[in-house]
Amino acid sequence: MKPHIRAKITALGTYVPPRILDNNELEKLVATSNDWILERTGIRERHLVDKGVAASDLAVEAAKDLAARHNVDLSTVEAIIVGTVTPDMMYPSTACLVQKKLNIPQAWGFDISAGCSGFVFSLTTGVKLIESGAHKKVLVIGADVNSSMIDYTDRATCILFGDGAGAVLLEPCEEGEDVGFIDFVHQIEGFGGDYLYQPGGGSLHPASHETVDQKMHYVHQDGQQVFKYAVKKMAEMTERVLAKNGLTGADVDCFISHQANKRIITATADRLKMPAEKVIINIEDYGNTTAGTIPLAMRTAVETGRLKKGDTLLIASVGAGFTSGASIIKWAF
Ligand code: UT7
Repeated sequence: MKPHIRAKITALGTYVPPRILDNNELEKLVATSNDWILERTGIRERHLVDKGVAASDLAVEAAKDLAARHNVDLSTVEAIIVGTVTPDMMYPSTACLVQKKLNIPQAWGFDISAGCSGFVFSLTTGVKLIESGAHKKVLVIGADVNSSMIDYTDRATCILFGDGAGAVLLEPCEEGEDVGFIDFVHQIEGFGGDYLYQPGGGSLHPASHETVDQKMHYVHQDGQQVFKYAVKKMAEMTERVLAKNGLTGADVDCFISHQANKRIITATADRLKMPAEKVIINIEDYGNTTAGTIPLAMRTAVETGRLKKGDTLLIASVGAGFTSGASIIKWAF
């Protein structure tokens, strides 16, 4: 029998564009207030790209940050997986554009569309490429330019989202090494498509004057329904992955949830009886960056000393689809 190969995260990089849109500026765009946004979501500001900057650009910057911080030679990367729902264009895939911009022709790759679970689904997929023995270096990126599909006259959505990206490198563990990816649970529930979707521009409603007039290229969300589902599902998925591995919240050193709403994160942490210091929340500075939130929060966790080598990390997400997932990782650096 082939020995079991375990995958570990050996490097992390992130990028957010420099331009900031804070709550005070949003007060000038729509009928909202800094107090309402902070209290209902926990968000104070978000970073937005300038015109002409796309998801692949954020992904490339995150990959370069990873390479610089961890001294990684990107020409050794064998596969690129990009989680995104805001690709530069319908095709080619963002992974192809990233490969070209990084000038790493040896790498193959593809995109994964899973809404806010884009990074979590991409990570598991990358882990399987390592565990199968097929590859030794897989670059997993979550990158989204949400501002490209937000209606800045819709106060229900424009306050929530930001642009950003994060990248991790997956490599096989050395023999006997007690770190790496432990397990995951993932789920999709297609009824969720009624509550969070961007209807225009696909094969059902190709771009036309009509789709533009009807604002079909923007994000449409029933916030309350998504909120209720996210609170329930985040708890269910985290409890499931922990129970599957004989663990409880007490065994977790660090909890990183998708950053969609501070109230969803704290509700999940309370359910797992997790003290605040173990729960990473940086939504205040970035808003919801879709596939970018978890690697951005990994960065916050490492930089604040709350995620260290050997720690048990729990990550979880719920997103458009609906998609959901939770994974357990023993941090490797
Ligand atoms: O990442 C993937 C998915 N997305 C999410 O997970 C988002 C999930 N949903 C949410 O985070 C929350 O539902 C929102 C933050 C979007 C909204 O918060 P809420 O507590 O569910 O507010 P609500 O929609 O129930 O609205 C409460 C009130 C309403 O006024 P009335 O009807 O009570 O008079 C809204 O019209 O707040 C009003 N409102 C606002 N007021 C000021 C809605 N948006 C705003 C706003 N500023 N931006």
